[in-house]
Amino acid sequence: MSNISGAGGCMVSLPRESMELQQILKIGLILFFLWSSSCLPVASVVDATGAIRFRNDTDHLSLLAFKDQITHDPLNALSSWNDTIQFCNWKGVTCSWKHKHRVVVLDLGSLGLEGSLSPSIGNLTFLHRLNLVNNNFFSEIPLELGRLRRLKNLILSFNLFQGGIPSNLTYGSELRILALSHNQLTGKIPVEITSLTKLGELYLGSNTLIGVIPTSIGNLSSLTRLSLLYNHLGGSIPDDIGRLSTLEFFRASVNSLTGTIPSKLYNISSMQEFSVAQNELQGSIPSDIGVTLPSLQFLILSGNQFDGPIPTTLANASRLEVICIPDNHFSGRVPSELGRLRGLHLLNVEKNHLEAGDAKGWEFLDSLTNCSRLTVLSLYDNMLGGMLPNSVVNLSSQLKVLNLNINHMSGRIPHGIENLANLYWFTFDDNLFTGAIPESIGKLVRLERLGLSSNRFTGQIPITLGNLTLLTELYLEQNNLQGPISPSLGKLQHLSILDLSTNRLAGTIPKEILSLPALSLYLNLSDNSLDGSLPLEVGRLKNLHTLDISRNMLSGNIPSTLGDCQILEYLHLDNNFFQGTIPKYLSNARGLQELDLSHNNLTGPIPTFLEDLKQLQMLNLSFNHLEGEVPVKGVFENATQVSIKGNSRLCGGVPELHLPACPGKSYKKRKWPLLLKIVIPIAGAVLCMILLFSFFILLRKRKSKVNAPIVPPLEDQFLRVSYTDLIRATDGFSSTTLIGRGGYVL
Ligand SMILES: *[C@@H]1O[C@H](CO)[C@@H](O)[C@H](O)[C@H]1NC(C)=O
Ligand SMILES: *[C@@H]1O[C@H](CO)[C@@H](O)[C@H](O)[C@H]1NC(C)=O
Ligand SMILES: *[C@@H]1O[C@H](CO)[C@@H](O)[C@H](O)[C@H]1NC(C)=O
Ligand SMILES: *[C@@H]1O[C@H](CO)[C@@H](O)[C@H](O)[C@H]1NC(C)=O
Ligand SMILES: *[C@@H]1O[C@H](CO)[C@@H](O)[C@H](O)[C@H]1NC(C)=O
Ligand SMILES: *[C@@H]1O[C@H](CO)[C@@H](O)[C@H](O)[C@H]1NC(C)=O
Ligand SMILES: *[C@@H]1O[C@H](CO)[C@@H](O)[C@H](O)[C@H]1NC(C)=O
Ligand SMILES: *[C@@H]1O[C@H](CO)[C@@H](O)[C@H](O)[C@H]1NC(C)=O
Ligand SMILES: *[C@@H]1O[C@H](CO)[C@@H](O)[C@H](O)[C@H]1NC(C)=O
Ligand SMILES: *[C@@H]1O[C@H](CO)[C@@H](O)[C@H](O)[C@H]1NC(C)=O
Ligand SMILES: *[C@@H]1O[C@H](CO)[C@@H](O)[C@H](O)[C@H]1NC(C)=O
Repeated sequence: MSNISGAGGCMVSLPRESMELQQILKIGLILFFLWSSSCLPVASVVDATGAIRFRNDTDHLSLLAFKDQITHDPLNALSSWNDTIQFCNWKGVTCSWKHKHRVVVLDLGSLGLEGSLSPSIGNLTFLHRLNLVNNNFFSEIPLELGRLRRLKNLILSFNLFQGGIPSNLTYGSELRILALSHNQLTGKIPVEITSLTKLGELYLGSNTLIGVIPTSIGNLSSLTRLSLLYNHLGGSIPDDIGRLSTLEFFRASVNSLTGTIPSKLYNISSMQEFSVAQNELQGSIPSDIGVTLPSLQFLILSGNQFDGPIPTTLANASRLEVICIPDNHFSGRVPSELGRLRGLHLLNVEKNHLEAGDAKGWEFLDSLTNCSRLTVLSLYDNMLGGMLPNSVVNLSSQLKVLNLNINHMSGRIPHGIENLANLYWFTFDDNLFTGAIPESIGKLVRLERLGLSSNRFTGQIPITLGNLTLLTELYLEQNNLQGPISPSLGKLQHLSILDLSTNRLAGTIPKEILSLPALSLYLNLSDNSLDGSLPLEVGRLKNLHTLDISRNMLSGNIPSTLGDCQILEYLHLDNNFFQGTIPKYLSNARGLQELDLSHNNLTGPIPTFLEDLKQLQMLNLSFNHLEGEVPVKGVFENATQVSIKGNSRLCGGVPELHLPACPGKSYKKRKWPLLLKIVIPIAGAVLCMILLFSFFILLRKRKSKVNAPIVPPLEDQFLRVSYTDLIRATDGFSSTTLIGRGGYVL
C-alpha cells in the first residue's frame, strides 16, 4: 500500500527557500530602484577626465581590493571595473549624490562571483547597502564590516560564508535588513545582534548555528521578519519574543527547540506566518489563537509533540491559507468551523489522534466544500471512523491531494468522485471501505498515485483504470477483488509500482502488464489465484527491482527470459506449480538478493551459477524435486541463507545442511575419458612450472619496488544501495524528508 505520509506534506508550490531568495531579491530590486532614481544625476556627472580624477579615492582603491579577491567571474560582471570608466559607473556601484566619490550601494547579486570578501569593504564607509546575494563567496565575514556605520542592508544570503557571525555587528545601529541565510555559518547567534534596534528583517536560516535564541531578541522592537529555520538551535523559545509586537514572520522550523510556545507569542496581532515544524515543542494551542492572531496565513507546527484539540477559533483568522500540523498528538474532532476559511489552501493533519465517529464528527468535511481553493487535504493516520460523507465529491475541484490512508473509514467510494478532476494523489489505503471500485475513477485522468489497498473492495478491477495514463503508482492489494487482471493496465506507461497482491484475482497474467516500460520499483501479484504460465514477456521488465508472483497457481517452465531482468533484486516465484529446471540464463540477473522458488515442482540439479551471484542473501529451493549435488560456495557457504528442505534427492553441500555425501562425485570422475585424465595433470604440471619460472623472473625485476597496495575488486569498493533501501532511508520520500528539504512548510 502507499503507506507514505506527506501527501505532498506541506509543499504547495514554490519551495520556501526560493521564496525567501525571491523576497530578498525583490527588496533589493525595489531599493535599487529607489536609489538609482534618486541618484540618477551621478551618472551624468561622469566626464572623460573623471576616471583620472577619482583614481586615488579610497573607495576606488577599496573596490579594486574587493575585485582582487574575486577568483572567478563567470559572467564577466566585473569587466566594466576598469580604469577607462569612472568607478561610480562600474556595474553594481552607486555613488552618493552629495559626496560624489563615495560609494553608497554595492549591488552584485546572482552573478556567480567566487572568492573571498575583502576586508577593504570596511573602508566604504558611506555604504548603505551591500548586496552579494546568491554568489559563491567562501571566506569568513570580515570583521571590518563593523565599521560601516551607515549600513542599512547587509545581504549575504545564498553564499558559502564560513565561520561565526561577527559579534561586532553593532555597527550601524542603522541596520534594517540583515540577511545571512543559506551559508555555512557556525557558532552561536551573537547577543550583540539584539542591539540593532532598527532591524526589521533578520534572516539566519539554513546555516549550522548552535546555542539558543538570545533572550534579548525581544529588544529588536522593529523586527517584522525573523527566520532561524534549518539550524541546530536548542533551548526554549524565549518569552521575550512576545515583545516583538510588529512581528509578521516567525520561522524557526527544523531546529531542536524544546518546551512550550510562550503565550505572549500568540498575542502578536501582526503575525502572518508562524512556523516551528520539526522541533521538540509541546503543549496545546490556546483556544483563542484565531482571535489573538487575526492576520495568520500560515500555521506550520508539523513534527512536534503538540496536543489537545485543534482550536475552533482558527476559523476567525480569516486569512488562513495553510494549516499544517501533522505528526503531533492533536486529538478530538476536526472543527467544522474551518469551512469558513475561504482562502484555505492546505489542511494537513496527518499522524495525529483525531476522531470522527458519527455524522457530527464528519461535519468538517461538509463544511470544507465551501473552501473553493482547497488543494491539499490529508487526514492520513488518525482515528477517523464511520462513513465517509458523500460530500467529499463536492470538495473544491482544485483539490490535488486527497489522502485518507490509515483510518477506520467505511462506506463506498461515492458516485461523483470524478468531480475532483484535478486530483493527482488519491489514497484511501488501510480503511474499511466496501463495494466496487467505481468505473468513474477512470475519469480522474490527472491521477499519478491511486491507493485503495487494505480495504474490503469487491468486484473486478475496472477496465477504465487503463485511462489513467499518468499513473505512476497503483495499489489495490489486500482487498477482495475478483476476476481477471485487465490488460488495459498495460496502457499505464508511467507506472513504476503495481501491487495487486492478496486478492482473489484469477485467469492468466496479461502480457501487457509485463511490457510496462516504467515498472521499476515492484510488481506484486502474489496471493491470488492466477494460473497459466508466466509469459515470456516478463523479460521486458528491464528496470524492475522486485517481482513477486508467489502463492498463485502458475505452471509451466520458469521462462529463461527472466535473465533479461538484469537489475532484479527480489524474485519470488514460490508456491506455484512451476516445473522443469532452474533456467541457466537466470545467471544474468546479477543483482539478485533474494530468490524464492520453494513449493514448486522444479526438477534437475541446483545450477552452480547460483554460487556466483554475489548479492544473493536468501535462496529458498525447498519443496521441489531437485536432485544432485548442492554447491558449497557463495550463498551456499552459509546454511542459514539457504533452504533446501523437501527435496529428497539432494546430496553434498556444507555440513550444516546435514545432507548425505554425494556418491555422484566419483561417478563424475569415472566418466572422464582416460586421455583427459592423463593430459590434464601433465598440462597442469607444465603450466605450474612456467608460472613459477615467470614469477621468479618478475620477482627479481621488482625487488626494489615498494609493494603496491592491494586494491579490492571494483564491485566491493562501492557501497551497494538498492532502490528499496533508498526508499526506506528516505522514509518513503515522506513529508518528513520533504520538510527537511525546505518545503512550503518552513
Ligand atoms: C572597460 O569596460 C568597458 C565596459 O565593459 C569596456 O567597453 C572597455 O573596453 C573596458 N576597457 C578596458 C581597458 O578593458
Ligand atoms: C582601508 O583603510 C585602512 C585605514 O583606514 C588602510 O590601512 C587600508 O590600507 C585600507 N584598505 C584599503 C584596501 O583601502
Ligand atoms: C534590552 O533592552 C533593555 C531595555 O530596554 C536593556 O536594559 C537591556 O540591556 C537590553 N539588552 C541588551 C542585551 O541589549
Ligand atoms: C494579550 O494581549 C492582551 C491585550 O493586548 C492582554 O490583555 C493579554 O494579557 C495578553 N495576553 C498574553 C498572554 O500576553
Ligand atoms: C469568531 O467567529 C465566530 C463566527 O463567525 C463569531 O461568532 C465570534 O464572535 C468570533 N470571535 C471573535 C472573538 O471575533
Ligand atoms: C457554505 O457557505 C454557505 C454560505 O456562507 C452556508 O450557507 C453553508 O451552510 C456553508 N456550507 C457548509 C457545508 O458549511
Ligand atoms: C454536491 O453539490 C451539489 C450541487 O451543489 C448538490 O446538489 C449535492 O447534493 C451535493 N452532494 C452532496 C453529497 O453533498
Ligand atoms: C476509458 O476506458 C474505456 C474502457 O477502456 C474506454 O471505452 C473509453 O473510451 C476510455 N475513455 C477515455 C476518455 O479514454
Ligand atoms: C509435478 O511434476 C510431475 C512430473 O515431473 C507431474 O507428474 C506432477 O503432476 C507435477 N505436479 C504438479 C502439481 O503439477
Ligand atoms: C524460504 O526460506 C527462507 C529462509 O529459510 C524463509 O525466510 C522463507 O520464508 C522461505 N519461504 C517460504 C515460502 O517458505
Ligand atoms: C549467515 O547468514 C545470516 C543471515 O543472513 C547472517 O546473520 C550470518 O552472519 C551469516 N553467517 C556467516 C558466517 O556469514
